[in-house]
Amino acid sequence: MTIGVLGAGYVGLATAASFAARGFAVVCADIDEKKIAKLQIGELPFFEEGMGDVFATASTPVTFTTNLESACLCDIVFCCVGTPSAADGSADLSFVRSVAKTCADIAPNAVFVLKSTVPPGTSRSISEFVDGKLRIAANPEFLREGNAVQDALNPTRVVIGADDESVSLILADLYKDVGAPIVSTNTVTAEMIKYASNSFLATKISFINDIANLCDVIGADVQSVATGMGLDDRIGAKFLQPGPGYGGSCFPKDVRALMHLGQSVKVPLRILEATTAINADRQRLPYRQLVEHLVDLKGKRIAVWGLAFKPGTDDVRDAPALGLLRRCMADEADLVAFDPLVRSLPSEFGEVEMASSAADSLRGADAVVIMTDWPEFSAVERVEILKTLRGDCVIDPRYVLR
Ligand code: UGA
Repeated sequence: MTIGVLGAGYVGLATAASFAARGFAVVCADIDEKKIAKLQIGELPFFEEGMGDVFATASTPVTFTTNLESACLCDIVFCCVGTPSAADGSADLSFVRSVAKTCADIAPNAVFVLKSTVPPGTSRSISEFVDGKLRIAANPEFLREGNAVQDALNPTRVVIGADDESVSLILADLYKDVGAPIVSTNTVTAEMIKYASNSFLATKISFINDIANLCDVIGADVQSVATGMGLDDRIGAKFLQPGPGYGGSCFPKDVRALMHLGQSVKVPLRILEATTAINADRQRLPYRQLVEHLVDLKGKRIAVWGLAFKPGTDDVRDAPALGLLRRCMADEADLVAFDPLVRSLPSEFGEVEMASSAADSLRGADAVVIMTDWPEFSAVERVEILKTLRGDCVIDPRYVLR
């Protein structure tokens, strides 16, 4: 059995790695020549714990290529291309349409599995778009960046959506030895499971952030509140960590796309409207706290600890730290940043100095803001920070300091 993977982003590479680790022959194709050239010499285009080792030790080495045809000719083709947000909040499906068309032309009747996160109804619309020339299934992923390989190898569940039973059986067979519960359903339901899962997790975060706002005013300790709540296994302890809002390439985009879908069929998702509004507000919070302490940020030296949208990754897409930097840049603050993995920022942040260590960034700084909950930051004592900082302004929206 050969596996084709279209798209060499996080999802594509984690998918390729997991099938390679399970002994399948995998062809992973992407039109980005630079990315493929790197992968061909054993380098990853981003940091992801353990992924390089899987590729290096696979019994059948993964073929990385810019030739989409060779991936389309495999027995099962996984579509893992991006689905970015369009201007109206909907998911832009142009990459999915493009590779589906290529696959339908090259390999009519191929088993074409949508792993890309796509709005409910996409498998059916793509099937129409290619005039029924593909055997389509929806098989969403639930990978977390920083843990993508482990999540792909040991999934909590395998969701198989197919409108044709023979396709469903092919995928059930592919995953039979994974040891996770399999949910077999139709395509639209499978696609909805993915969106509902991400939206629920985002809502859980906004819930605890709303509670954190109240706790901070009335003198309650939100961390203990979260611990106390999480011990009830109906609630669960995960995703109750308050912070400067959720970021990354998934939650903001997927929540927007689900809201857009609801609006388009006149079923507004009010809870997601609140989730989004709370998130935007929490993302502004560190800036508001800075202004409260320092009044005018012009010329003030501000150290930002953490740029990645969460620990364990060098990904800064939709990272709350970038929003903070933009606001401070508009106020002409003097910015210095440190992140254990992020070494450079997009060009719009050219004026932000990159420090070589967290301690270095504090020298001569009027304030420090901790934007990512990297474990090394929580190992630092607040008193230690205050010894180096020029002022006493320590802003800790992730509650990492003791
Ligand atoms: C998320 C989901 O967790 C995965 O299950 C899903 O497969 C993936 O999106 C996707 O759709 O591909 P990911 O974006 O890697 O994974 O990141 P998360 O670990 O979910 O964190 C998202 C954001 O929420 C981060 O900014 C993080 O700091 C924040 N967060 C998370 C909190 O503020 N509090 C928490 O308690 C948990």
